[in-house]
Amino acid sequence: MELSDIEADLTSVLYTEEQIHDKIAEVARQVEADYAGREPLLVGVLKGAVMVMADFSRELKLAASMDWMAVSSYGSGTKSSGVVRILKDLDSDLHGRDVIIVEDIIDSGLTLSWLLENLQKRGAASVEIFALFRKPAAAKVAVDVRYVGFEIPNDFVIGYGLDYDEKYRNLRGVGVLAPHVYS
Ligand code: PRP
Repeated sequence: MELSDIEADLTSVLYTEEQIHDKIAEVARQVEADYAGREPLLVGVLKGAVMVMADFSRELKLAASMDWMAVSSYGSGTKSSGVVRILKDLDSDLHGRDVIIVEDIIDSGLTLSWLLENLQKRGAASVEIFALFRKPAAAKVAVDVRYVGFEIPNDFVIGYGLDYDEKYRNLRGVGVLAPHVYS
């Protein structure tokens, strides 16, 4: 689905499909240089990271394996607790592996902060993060993110994996959701 298909639901377009793909290619070149001669394990966090993972992994000119986790935050539907429950764990053994966590967005940072620590304890040789979007104004904890695509304002963004009530994930681009949709 194109951003133009849901124009009435958007306040603005943030990034087009082309801009996103250019950024992913830029990050892929950095990762290829940093991981030359190694075979990283890309860990995607369901469901938002599906689009980034699909495009980033195919852009990467490196042999890379792929695995997935699904997590959920504890606490009355909010993400404020920072305590995370694993809904689906990795199939892979992380011992000695170079792990790159692939995420769509860092909001408060609570999910990734927890995930980073959890994966580091599993004996990985290294654990780094690639997040396509980061909202600096929403940060509650500092997370050491090696690869960031775009820093964005603290708005309600949708598309390219990001949802509102499970909708809009299949948009090719990313936009700001109009308040009339969610208020
Ligand atoms: C989103 C996103 C991150 C998390 C970031 O996932 O994919 O995992 O929120 O937020 P935080 O920095 O405040 O922890 P969400 O829980 O919405 O699930 P989804 O990927 O299935 O949409």
